[in-house]
Amino acid sequence: MRYDILTIFPKFFESPFSFGILKKAQEKGLIQINVHDIRDFAPDKHNTVDDSPYGGGSGMVFKPGPLGDAIEFAKADGARSLVILTTPQGERFSDKIARELTEYEQLIIICGRYEGVDERIREIYVDREISIGDYVLSGGEYAASVIIDAVSRLIPGVLGNEASPYDDSFRGGLLEYPQYTRPETYKRKAVPEILLSGNHKEIEKWRRGEGVKRTFFRRPDLLDRASLTVEELKLIRRLRRENPPSFRVYVALVHYPVYNKDLRIVTTAFTNLDVHDISRACRTYGVRVFFLVHPVQEQRVLVERVLRHWTEGPGVLYNPTRNEALALVRIKSSLSEALEEIEKVEDSKPKVVVTDARPGENLTGYSELKERIITGEEPYLILFGTGWGIAKEVMERADYALKPIEGNTDYNHLSVRSAAAVVLDRLLSN
Ligand code: ADE
Repeated sequence: MRYDILTIFPKFFESPFSFGILKKAQEKGLIQINVHDIRDFAPDKHNTVDDSPYGGGSGMVFKPGPLGDAIEFAKADGARSLVILTTPQGERFSDKIARELTEYEQLIIICGRYEGVDERIREIYVDREISIGDYVLSGGEYAASVIIDAVSRLIPGVLGNEASPYDDSFRGGLLEYPQYTRPETYKRKAVPEILLSGNHKEIEKWRRGEGVKRTFFRRPDLLDRASLTVEELKLIRRLRRENPPSFRVYVALVHYPVYNKDLRIVTTAFTNLDVHDISRACRTYGVRVFFLVHPVQEQRVLVERVLRHWTEGPGVLYNPTRNEALALVRIKSSLSEALEEIEKVEDSKPKVVVTDARPGENLTGYSELKERIITGEEPYLILFGTGWGIAKEVMERADYALKPIEGNTDYNHLSVRSAAAVVLDRLLSN
């Protein structure tokens, strides 16, 4: 692999590639790193490579001329090459992208400065824009070093031990298992016995299991892509059972005060499907209690009868898992009753979150609220409205109003049970 780095700080690269694996890879001829000073391509005697942006604004922009000439100079004849621009606006660098980059013979990496490059350079020359994370560095030189290191490790022969990139974290989608070396006991902590047993099959099994556990606790988002055996899936189920989520989230389905189609305040009737489906979603995502809020006594009596069928009557034997979900339901005549019950159990008032299909101002995004729920200490009560949505007076008293669920079309008419499932998944899933 040949790398050509285009930078205004060529001295930056004097050290990162002069140690260890990358140094050896260059000595063995497996990789070649050329560094070009973009200033060498500036036509004027001051070696100017940047200028102020058209239209005004702060900062400077890379001029297209010198940078374009530097790219053309760097391009190796006949090589399968890719021009990369390092920028915080690029796609997020990953193990997958690193592997894709190994398919080329030459990578030309432009070290962007965060004020940017003239857009025409992007259009004419740049094949891929890469960011190494959601933060702004003072220059793309750091990003270029990261990309070159990650890609080079994947080139056959670069790592002494051919097997190691495949054991490393992210290969197979799991984080790496814990490693130990001599001494057997350090500060009274012993090496796990299995590693001393010499039983390679069992050691391999243990290591996979530890990789699964580590991924479960540290990066559960990776489990989705990991290829797992049935045995490992069972292990994850067990870990979920043994480590229930620590957040304290409650859900209420509000039947009054809600709007009807003509935006009049009404009371809606219970919908059996909503009761069943939302309680199942609540059980799946670790909600503590699902409140059904209805001011009409006859309606509450009716739904109590339905619930008894599934939690005490013939329904228990017919479908025991339904019992588990419906056991989360509490019937209340008003929202304040639900709030009082939460406060009694939790010893603090919950933060109230409302959901609505209508667009509005000062709405909270799902990832922001998710972070608050998962990392915070307070209990939360999420309200879902039946009919045409919860009345304004309730909305205004809430601590957070969530943004409407946007799919990827302009259609916005989810049933409340579908909306509840989507919201719970966005806020509470791993
Ligand atoms: N240049 C400045 N910040 C960067 C980032 N996060 N990734 C890649 N290049 C950058």
